Amino acid sequence: MEGALRVNGALLRIAFGPGEVLLDVLRAAGHTEVKNGCGEGSCGSCLVLLDGALVNSCQVLAASALDREVTTVRGLGTIADPHPIQAAFAEAGAVQCGFCTPGMVMAAWALLARNPLPNEAQIRSALDGNLCRCTGYVKIVRAVRLAAERMAARG
Ligand code: FES
Ligand code: FES
Repeated sequence: MEGALRVNGALLRIAFGPGEVLLDVLRAAGHTEVKNGCGEGSCGSCLVLLDGALVNSCQVLAASALDREVTTVRGLGTIADPHPIQAAFAEAGAVQCGFCTPGMVMAAWALLARNPLPNEAQIRSALDGNLCRCTGYVKIVRAVRLAAERMAARG
């Protein structure tokens, strides 16, 4: 099968098999910022936005993403021009090996879009589907709170 979707604003033409998932076509196209942790929908490392909604890309058939808009963590910001959430993760020391970070940042983005100033319990609940083997989560929660405060202060 063949088709196209938009990834971070750019047209991406893809060829894929019937059972192939969005995660695989994204990574095959060079979007290795989308991580493959479990492939079963239980670790959150593959989170992306699909038409603005948070999805585990390992659970979305590539065929169902055709003609739709995908945003990966690279679409939120770059090293040269980071999103406030990405900057807060770096500043709070919330990145160790970094494998979980793209999914964490996407989950945090979705949280702050619906709840700009979440409390700790709300942050922990929103990140419930994201596994991190390194940090113990404390610095990640701190980073999300820091980003929320900065974004709120900027209006
Ligand atoms: S790789 Fe998709 S949830 Fe783990
Ligand atoms: S920083 Fe290593 S898994 Fe989270």
